[in-house]
Order: sequence, then C-alpha cells, then structure tokens
Amino acid sequence: FLFKLLLIGDSGVGKSCLLLRFADDKWTDSYISTIGVDFKLKYMDMAGKRLKLTVWDTAGQERFRTLTSAYYRGAQGIVYVYDITRRDTFEALAEVWSKEVEMYSTVDECVKIVIGNKVDKAKGGREEGWVTREEGETFARESGSLFLECSAKTKVSVREAFEELVKGVMETPSLMEETANKDSVKLGGFRAQKGPCC
Ligand code: GTP
Ligand code: MG
Repeated sequence: FLFKLLLIGDSGVGKSCLLLRFADDKWTDSYISTIGVDFKLKYMDMAGKRLKLTVWDTAGQERFRTLTSAYYRGAQGIVYVYDITRRDTFEALAEVWSKEVEMYSTVDECVKIVIGNKVDKAKGGREEGWVTREEGETFARESGSLFLECSAKTKVSVREAFEELVKGVMETPSLMEETANKDSVKLGGFRAQKGPCC
C-alpha cells in the first residue's frame, strides 16, 4: 500500500522538523527554509499491513505557491500545520491553506489533520495571543479534520499524528482503492507528476 501524504502551512511553523522527527527521529534547531518541495519515504506497519508512506513537505513561502500547488494532486492525507505561538499562522489555515486544498486537492475524501506545533513552548503556560488548544480543536472540527498539538522538538504526539492520519485513510474505502493502484501512483509521484493518481 502506497500512501501519499502532504504537509502544508506557513513558513517556519515546523513542517520540515515534524517530518524529520517522524521519518528519521531527528531534531535540528537550525532553520533551513524549504525551497519548493521535498519528500521522505517512511514504512509503517498498521493493522497487519505494510504501508509505504511518501510524505511531501512543501515550502510555506508564498513565492513557491504555484509550484507547491501541483503536489496536492493524489494526496490521500493532508497535514495542516500552525505554530501555537504565532496566531497569524493559525489564521492562515482558514484564510490560505484550506482554500488551496479546495482548489488543488483531487481526492474528494482525503483525510486531514490539523497540527498545532511547538507545544513544548507552552510548558510554562501560554502567553497572551498564543493559540489555545480549544481554538485549534474548533477549527479542526469545522474543517472536518483531526486535531493534535505536537512538538517536533520533544517528540510529543508526532508519531500519533501521522498514525491517526494513516488510520483515517485506511478506514476510507475509496482511499484504499486508490492506494492499491500502486504503479501509476509511483510513476506519477516520482517522475513528472503526470500519473493518473498523483
Ligand atoms: P518552511 O520550509 O519555510 O515552510 O518552514 P517549515 O514549516 O518547514 O519550518 P521548519 O521545520 O524549518 O522549522 C522552523 C523553525 O522552527 C526551526 O528553527 C525549528 O527548529 C523550529 N521548530 C520546529 N518545530 C519546533 C518545535 O516543535 N518546537 C520548537 N520549540 N521549535 C520548533
Ligand atoms: Mg520546511
């Protein structure tokens, strides 16, 4: 089973760090803003099935928007990421990112999860203006998404977030049909993005 997952959200929210934590269990403090699109492969065993996940990590910077929009195609799982300490990144999910999904996603029943990242910073409480867990949950519910607060830095809930997302895909029959069409997904995903499923 080959799954295509996609990370989206404003620049600096921690998409690449979440992927690095999930795929390689690594962490880095340094910030190297993603240029265009990157991806990692990760194998996961779930419900007795061997799953191959291709996780696409898009650049949050606006100048790459035209390029990154092509990668929504065929994604069965979408991860919306915001930074709990930056309200603008949370508001952008409704104002920018969910609109991008509406426009470019080709998979009607794709599963979505909202991640409030950098929850490690809220250890001593949240400063005024930071996004509360309730606000995150409300947006997730309204947009038909799952929700978790995570920390790529301290590992909190990162694996769980991807597992929940994958579980959601596996529980959606139309999405499982799509993953079974392996060869075309592979060619579409890795080559010219022209395959019927990517
Ligand atoms: P673009 O590639 O520009 O879209 O940004 P991005 O969303 O990929 O952000 P990236 O993962 O590069 O992280 C940006 C900065 O946030 C880096 O300095 C990270 O070290 C920091 N960061 C990421 N995740 C966490 C986290 O969970 N906690 C804390 N404290 N810092 C984090
Ligand atoms: Mg990045």
